[in-house]
This record gives sequence, structure tokens and C-alpha cells, in this order.
Amino acid sequence: MDSHLSPLYDIAELRRIEFPWTGDTIYLNHASVGPLPERTRLTLESFNRKRAIPHQLPDRELIAMLAESRRLAGELIGADPEEIALTINTGFGLSLAARALPLEAGDIVLASDREFPANVYPWMMLKDQGIRLELAPTTPEGWPDEEYLLHRVADSRVRVLAVSLVQFSNGYTINLARLSAAARATGTYLVVDAIQALGQVPVDIRNTPVDVLACGAQKWLLSPWGSGFVYVRRELIGELRPAITGWMAFEGTDDFTQLTQYNDTLRGDARRFELITLPYQDFAGMNASLGLLLDLRVARIANHLRTLHRPVLDWAERHDVRIVSPDGERGSGILCFAPPDVGRAFRALKAAHVVSSLREGAIRLSPHAYNTEAEMHRVVEILEGC
Ligand SMILES: Cc1ncc(COP(=O)(O)O)c(C=O)c1O
Repeated sequence: MDSHLSPLYDIAELRRIEFPWTGDTIYLNHASVGPLPERTRLTLESFNRKRAIPHQLPDRELIAMLAESRRLAGELIGADPEEIALTINTGFGLSLAARALPLEAGDIVLASDREFPANVYPWMMLKDQGIRLELAPTTPEGWPDEEYLLHRVADSRVRVLAVSLVQFSNGYTINLARLSAAARATGTYLVVDAIQALGQVPVDIRNTPVDVLACGAQKWLLSPWGSGFVYVRRELIGELRPAITGWMAFEGTDDFTQLTQYNDTLRGDARRFELITLPYQDFAGMNASLGLLLDLRVARIANHLRTLHRPVLDWAERHDVRIVSPDGERGSGILCFAPPDVGRAFRALKAAHVVSSLREGAIRLSPHAYNTEAEMHRVVEILEGC
């Protein structure tokens, strides 16, 4: 933990202004769906008010809003806006990578077993082209086996390493720097599913280069369904030809007065991957949420989440309950544990208005910036009583 980032933002104020419903529910389910902060809800409302009367939303305003979305997404990960394409979910970005990377029959895509299916099926579908998805066994704890992945990346047939930055079922955070260095040394494409990371784990791809990074914004980015983005490394953009193309993916299409002057030159930036028309209202909302998260600072949020885990970790130790999530650098804001009667504990939490998830045999707690230590002590109280 980085103690230089204290003091924290004012949590009570954050709850009061942005999450006013938190008095009656303990929401610890951001790895599933993030709530919308008040500023985002209000943005959607005022956007939709204008949307009802379309001439109140001129094209130039919509175009500027999407440019702002690319800028904010870029700021979040240390990328230039030109390297960001807006997408409706994570799967779109991962499918883009699967379909557009220059792969051939005989190539292998390497992923860890137990990846979320969004990062499995697009690669499995390449079977028809003679490209094989190899699922690397996880460690006995069920975490990605980084040593094994690094060993396999050295095989020249492995052309893609596809990983989640944070695992959905245990919160394991891969050592991106290490995998990035290995992928660069061997010329393997590194594709990252970042939806369980961005917003709770700081990412700066200037320090840890990746080739493609896909992220839906509906979870830790506290944004509407239908918003998200994909980053494509600048040097790679020109090499990737999208399998499906939107009409604004081409040069010259900003000029709506000459749309039938067709020009089949794809844009030079990542907008060549965008499938316009996009759900504009959702990106208006995403902009508001990203603004909040960037103000709070993800590094601070990450620190805060580790503090929140402490009461549950102590309880687990007292009762010899298995913690499924890693600790320290490989951990994240996701905390999973497996009490002997996991179903009973899950139901007890639910009955007491604690929202969590049951995933792969464990209870998954995924708090965010506005959750409090008092809430986590309440969780312990409930667990003690069941
Ligand atoms: C690791 C991971 N990838 C992707 C998704 C979702 O993908 P999409 O945004 O395409 O719905 C989830 C959760 O729903 C996830 O946990």
C-alpha cells in the first residue's frame, strides 16, 4: 500500500452526494455491476431530456462528447485518445483482437484456464481457421500460473497471450509488467481484458505496454451498460483491419455533406474500429463517471479497498475460513472466501441487505471507493452469526 496517498477523499461526503441510497444497503458487488453515481444519473437524465427533442443535440455536440470519452479513457490508462476506440462492452474489443490480429493456421492463442468466457469464446471461434486456443492450467489455488504462461510464451507458435488483468472469480492481479516484458521479447501479442481492473487497480500502459486492452465500463467504472472502450497500441493500429466496419471508420466521413464520395481508406487512428452509431447517452454517462474516478484517483481507491478487506481477513483467520484471493501485490479490491457452508453464509448476507456474489464456490466481496470500514464490520457481524 502507498501511504503517501493518505488522507483519503471524504467518504461521508462522497456517499452523501454521489451514492445517497447507501444507508439501507451494503453494496459489495462492483465486480458484477457498478452503481451509477448521482452525477452520472443526472447527466443521463438531462441528456435524455434533450434526446427527446433531437435538434437539441447537434452532431457537433455528440462528436465532441465522444472525443471526450476517448480522452478520459486514455487518461485512465496512460494512452493517447487516438489509441482508443469506443465500444459497447468488453467482448467487442476482445473479438476485435481475435479477428483482426494477423494470425494464421498453426498459431496458438494462450489463455489461462478459468478466464471469464468473454476472453475465451472469441479465441475458441478461431478453430475454423486452424488457430488453437490453449488453456493453461491454473495453480492449485486456482490462480493464473504465470511461470507456466511465461514458459509457453517462449514457444514461437504462441502468437497471442490473452489475459484478464484481474481475475473475476478470485481477484488475482497478473504481473502485467512481467508478462508485458516477456511478450515483447518474444513478439507475442498481449491482449488484456481489463474490466475487473480499471477503476480499482491503477494501470499505466506507458510503463507496461500491451497490444490490445478491452474494457466495458459497467462495473468498476460505474458507467451505464453499453459503454466501454478498446485500446490498440499505436504501432499496431494500421496493421489491424476490422472484420466488421462502421461507416465512420473511414477517412472523410466527418463531412456529412459528401457521404457518398466513398473512400475506402480506413482512418489512421483507433476510430477505424468503432461501430458508429454508438449509444451516445451511455458515453455521456461514462464521461461523468470517469471524471469522478479520475478526481478520486484510482491509486487511492486501491489503497482504500485493501483497508476495507482487513476485518473480513481477520474474521477468516479466527475461524480458519479459506481465503480464495491472493494477498499483497497479486491481490486487488476483490476478496473471495469460502466458508464451509458457503450457500448459508451467502444467504445470510443477502437477508441482511449485503449485496455480494457467489462465484466458483466462494463469496465474492467487491467494495468500491465509497464503502466504509463500518460496513465491513457489519459484514463480519453477519458472518459471525451464521
Ligand atoms: C473478466 C471479465 N470480462 C468480461 C466481462 C463482461 O464482458 P462484457 O463487457 O462483454 O459483457 C466480465 C463480467 O461480466 C468479466 O468478469
